[in-house]
Amino acid sequence: MGNEHELSPRSGIRSEGSDKLMSDTTVESGEPMQIPEVSEPAATDPVWLFGYGSLIWRPDFPYQKKELALVDGWERKFWQGSHDHRGVPEAPGRVVTLLPATGQQCAGMAFQISSKDAVEIFQALDYREKNGYERHTAPCWLIEQKRTVECIFYIATESNVAFLGPAPLSEIAQQINASVGPSGSNREYLLQLASALRTLNLTDEHVFSLEQEVLKLTPEL
Ligand code: SIN
Repeated sequence: MGNEHELSPRSGIRSEGSDKLMSDTTVESGEPMQIPEVSEPAATDPVWLFGYGSLIWRPDFPYQKKELALVDGWERKFWQGSHDHRGVPEAPGRVVTLLPATGQQCAGMAFQISSKDAVEIFQALDYREKNGYERHTAPCWLIEQKRTVECIFYIATESNVAFLGPAPLSEIAQQINASVGPSGSNREYLLQLASALRTLNLTDEHVFSLEQEVLKLTPEL
């Protein structure tokens, strides 16, 4: 598996020799690829972190390498409230989380972190992601290396107090357009994420539709 897949110039992944563009989470057959199992890690092995939101475009920690990766059974949604970065408690912004989604795959960036730096880096990340996110570990497919590694990623589940859940796209866009927090505007978060995905030749309908909605509300960056 894997060998027959390559990144397309615009979309996520396509089969070699095919012009048919697929979403970032599907392959030519229309079926998600089978992510193989991972072997047991040793204590000195590097640790892998999978980022799918601001960690893609603003990693603020040292890493040994990074590469595009897929996680199986998850989708990215602007369903998490942000009280501490892109909004405030009385007017929360909206940031992405991963939701379980059978048959879906989410593409993002995997960062390899040395075992000696890992404790310190994850403490800092726990603080950065403290508004409702928790660490989760799952197999992650490294697209370039064509192998599976165990990755840690941060998810905000429905049970956290800041979770907002689904809403009509236009309402989410208005909320994002209006919200500002200590880390900056919520617009910047969305537009940077959309731009980073595009630069990486990944697509995400939800993110790109919201980007369009927000640019309609206020055209400039
Ligand atoms: C992530 O980027 O992986 C987590 C969500 C965020 O910090 O935006």
